[in-house]
Amino acid sequence: MSVFEQLHTAATRVLPRAYAPYSHHPVAVAAMDDQGAVHTGVNIENASYGLTQCAEVAMISAWRMSAGATLTHLVCLNGHGDYITPCGRCRQVLFEHAPGDLVIAIPDGSITLTQLLPHAFGPDNLQD
Ligand code: THU
Repeated sequence: MSVFEQLHTAATRVLPRAYAPYSHHPVAVAAMDDQGAVHTGVNIENASYGLTQCAEVAMISAWRMSAGATLTHLVCLNGHGDYITPCGRCRQVLFEHAPGDLVIAIPDGSITLTQLLPHAFGPDNLQD
């Protein structure tokens, strides 16, 4: 099984844990690190519309709490199991926690994080 197939399986497994009663748009994410560990997350919505926690943010939180290794591959699925590309805020969150060569599945292939978020603003651009 390819890395993306493994991650698709892992994301599909957690998809029922999404909490999306407002958008009816469940999202699941799975990422692999360079030690072979898989980290997952789902979106968690909120009655205060707009305060959603995206699946990528949930995954990054779980990854940090598990002291996960460097992330190498990521998939993000909608409720039909189709690959979707991370939203703008999640691109920024990923940028701050994953290397630019993180490989992300997209509907017609794959793309690196640097390709997904070129010219990113990050911690290195902050003044002391
Ligand atoms: N969503 C994610 O969890 N990640 C993305 O990259 C795209 C959007 C969620 C947020 C919200 O709960 C729902 O999908 C609709 O936007």
